[in-house]
Amino acid sequence: MTSEGTHLDPENWDDFSREMHDLMDHCLQRMKSARELPWQPKPKDMAHRLALNPDTTGVGSAQSLEQLVQDIMPYATGNTHPRFFGWVHGAGLPVSVGAELVAATMNSNCGGRDHGAMEVERAALDWLLGVSGLPKQASAILTTGTSQATILALSAACNKQFGHEVRQTGIQSLPPVSVYVRSGTHSCIGKALEVLGFGSDAIRTVDTDADMRMDMGSLAQLVAEDRAQGRVPLAVVGTAGAVNTGSFDPLQDIADFCAAQNIWMHIDAAFGFWVRLAEAPWAQLATGMERANSIACDFHKWMSVPYDCGACMIYDRSLHINSFTSRPSYLEQQDAGLGGGDLWFCDYGLELSRGFRALKVWTAIKSIGEEAFSKSITDNCKQAALMAELVRASDVLELPYEVTSNVCCLYVKHGDANQIAAQLQLNGDAVFSTTVIKGRSCLRAALVNHRTTSQDIRAAIAAVEDAVRRAAA
Ligand SMILES: Cc1ncc(COP(=O)(O)O)c(C=O)c1O
Repeated sequence: MTSEGTHLDPENWDDFSREMHDLMDHCLQRMKSARELPWQPKPKDMAHRLALNPDTTGVGSAQSLEQLVQDIMPYATGNTHPRFFGWVHGAGLPVSVGAELVAATMNSNCGGRDHGAMEVERAALDWLLGVSGLPKQASAILTTGTSQATILALSAACNKQFGHEVRQTGIQSLPPVSVYVRSGTHSCIGKALEVLGFGSDAIRTVDTDADMRMDMGSLAQLVAEDRAQGRVPLAVVGTAGAVNTGSFDPLQDIADFCAAQNIWMHIDAAFGFWVRLAEAPWAQLATGMERANSIACDFHKWMSVPYDCGACMIYDRSLHINSFTSRPSYLEQQDAGLGGGDLWFCDYGLELSRGFRALKVWTAIKSIGEEAFSKSITDNCKQAALMAELVRASDVLELPYEVTSNVCCLYVKHGDANQIAAQLQLNGDAVFSTTVIKGRSCLRAALVNHRTTSQDIRAAIAAVEDAVRRAAA
């Protein structure tokens, strides 16, 4: 009895090739029809249909690929649709289907070693760092998203503050630290502090000014109070594109303050990073970002690269490497062969095994080009301004704040915002998410979708107004 020769490849490659071509046609047809396919609820028996029973023989590729098309693909989040404005969801790109196919085919491990995928990530990151305006000695790594990038950035800040010994000694003997965020900062900052062991109690919430930007006076006061009490200011987190409002903190002022106070400046730029590609006046919102010690951003939001893909940028490559590198004998650098190469991403983050996220980033930028992204990002900002104008003109809607980038919220004068959002989603009219601004629930639209047109904005607002009027009746 021998298992020699057992393999998991197709028995018949010609049949498999036909099945894959068929699958590709279905995928592209779905992307081509994005406008006809709003979010739809998943079937009640979906979990049952998809359950994987133990000890069964595989059904084979034909049946399982068919099930991908029939039972799974229709029940997506819906963010490919041009009237999907909820949360901050990227819309995806047809060319990424090709990139993902090639990435799966190559099955590269991008933690390290000397192979072509590393050069793809190097090229993608060089481009990203160029957009960031960070100094030449900066470095970066692709991550699952901004949440993971934030853990890396604050970990590097901790290394800078307390020395790399903190990697061995841990945080238990450190003085208490504070991390300054403005109210309305994303929850990923608190989560990162929890994971790093500082706990979310390390967060100091700075007041915002009338434009919902970090108030510099309040920041200075909190830092002075903390220093007087023996707390160490670990980082100031500037937000570039607040999740609720799209507002940008005064990044230049924060950079001046951090330089004067010798405090690490981190920027949560999950989606707002990309206004750096936009036209004026939106591009100017990000001025000062280039002076940060670290930036976290996402490709899977405004750059439409399919999930998941974010990035962490650190202003100083040696600090970055020394905060994460760990090379036991089985990972030792070799002079030649696959164990060589000058860029191992396991030295820049937490993961040793990493997927080939870089390929979908590289392919998007190579094929679509910076100029087209710039136009689409600028369009989304103009669409948010249009939405605000329609809300201002409406007798049943109200604007909670002046729109500055790509996020527009709307109060409804009748009915319940959460119920209206759900109703619009179920009807397939549009997907808004909901939030609370100044203590009042509202609908929220984050415009990051390259398929959205001004007609979609008008249609969505008309649908909201109808729903509100029905609620009033
Ligand atoms: C401002 C901001 N920061 C952080 C995040 C978290 O990013 P991710 O979901 O990529 O981890 C988001 C997600 O919407 C965000 O909008």
